[in-house]
Amino acid sequence: MRLLKFALGALLPSYGFSQLSSCPQPELRYTPPRILPGFSLTKIADGFAHPRQIAIDRRGQLVVASLGDGLVGLKTAYDANGCPSATTKRVIVPDDGMNFTHSVLFSRDYKRLYASTPDLALSWEYDSRLFKVKGTGKVLIKGMALKNPLAITRAMAIPKRYPNLLLVFRSSEGDNDTAASAISTGRSMIKIFDLRKVPEGGYDYVRDGVVFAHGVRDSVDFTEDRYRNFWGVDNGADVITRYGESIGMDNPADEVNFLGEVCPDEGAMTPPNYGFPACHGVWNSSALANNTLNLQVGQTFTIYPQIFTDQQCQTETVPPRLSIFPHSAPLGIRFYNPHHPDLGDELVDSAFITYHGPTGHKIVNVPFNRRTVAAPPTTKQGTTDFIWTDPSINLADCKSEINVGPTAIECLSPVGLTFDEAGRMYFTSDQTGEVFVVTRGSK
Ligand SMILES: *[C@@H]1O[C@H](CO)[C@@H](O)[C@H](O)[C@H]1NC(C)=O
Ligand SMILES: *[C@@H]1O[C@H](CO)[C@@H](O)[C@H](O)[C@H]1NC(C)=O
Ligand SMILES: *[C@@H]1O[C@H](CO)[C@@H](O)[C@H](O)[C@H]1NC(C)=O
Ligand SMILES: *[C@@H]1O[C@H](CO)[C@@H](O)[C@H](O)[C@H]1NC(C)=O
Repeated sequence: MRLLKFALGALLPSYGFSQLSSCPQPELRYTPPRILPGFSLTKIADGFAHPRQIAIDRRGQLVVASLGDGLVGLKTAYDANGCPSATTKRVIVPDDGMNFTHSVLFSRDYKRLYASTPDLALSWEYDSRLFKVKGTGKVLIKGMALKNPLAITRAMAIPKRYPNLLLVFRSSEGDNDTAASAISTGRSMIKIFDLRKVPEGGYDYVRDGVVFAHGVRDSVDFTEDRYRNFWGVDNGADVITRYGESIGMDNPADEVNFLGEVCPDEGAMTPPNYGFPACHGVWNSSALANNTLNLQVGQTFTIYPQIFTDQQCQTETVPPRLSIFPHSAPLGIRFYNPHHPDLGDELVDSAFITYHGPTGHKIVNVPFNRRTVAAPPTTKQGTTDFIWTDPSINLADCKSEINVGPTAIECLSPVGLTFDEAGRMYFTSDQTGEVFVVTRGSK
């Protein structure tokens, strides 16, 4: 039997932990999270309204999409001990009621900055030397608004090989989509738009573009690996039933999906269906009513058996490549391929995923064997904790979009992540308004 390469596990003879680095940093208002030994976690900025994705330019300057603040620039510096700090924090594009809820990225040549709101995809001319945008934003895509106040993320990406294509995700209204839509292709998709042909006033999201993937229920983030393949995280549903019965709290699985390569030259292809709204990932197979196919982790089950069967889920939709514990709420995924992999050569090609949900509040690493996940799709153990919330905290008490009660407490709530060319990790925590840096070595 071939041994799986669990990079972080192999790195650590014994599974210990450390907390925040001893570097000078803004005070933390909650119990410090834990990090694997051998790495240092330092907060460099706080006071953000709601920081989500984080992009990095060719000079290593950060731009954070923060709902309420806008697109906010952060410059970092490292002292003689390697301790990080933020030296500049400045609004690059003010929110002005636009609601920059999630996505921010640069063009391949760093001359344009892209961001999304619940309704629009926009871009600006960008000057990294001045650390500023020039002129007003150009609307690339419009017509993305949904009524569901929780469905406000519009993840975006630009393929490295096709710098003139923009991929944009939009979910459907919610999980109450009728059975009639179970097999339609208009739900929860990633579409491709050609940036060279943007019409006056922008594309219409519903009418225009080419579907790259559909049935990706809530793909809050997707990203490209070193081999030109895209991978996405997908958040499982909260209130669904099967044969009129509860599916339990430990179903459906959250997912890592293999989305594949963008091939614009191949003409009209039928885009792959990732299952939503009919098919959902199995986590606890014994909690599923009428599981006659004995579906297990790595497979999907139907919630509309009359019109789309368990069997059709297996043959007509793409299963998750990796299943994740239900309600982890994976919100960010990035591959570790920096120029200098400061966090460790053994992490190269692996993916880091931020978990935001009531069973999450951490960052995990997913080891890859070059092109694919090291663990098989049938495992429940394809991830390794990298940064996690102190076990003394009851995660159900943590503040989130769905837990806003007066008793809710602050917990690390990671969303966006990126790496600089030196291999350091930067990530946001939206509920606490913070940005952190992870470096190698104990400080
Ligand atoms: C931004 O969000 C606020 C609060 O949810 C809302 O009132 C406002 O209409 C939104 N702005 C736009 C342009 O949608
Ligand atoms: C969806 O349906 C469930 C059950 O009928 C209901 O409780 C819930 O409020 C609905 N949600 C929305 C967003 O309409
Ligand atoms: C799986 O579901 C069954 C049936 O609901 C339940 O008894 C069992 O505790 C669950 N297993 C786990 C590991 O939670
Ligand atoms: C269980 O599934 C089988 C095959 O899909 C179906 O024929 C049967 O009616 C289902 N049982 C119930 C109780 O719904």
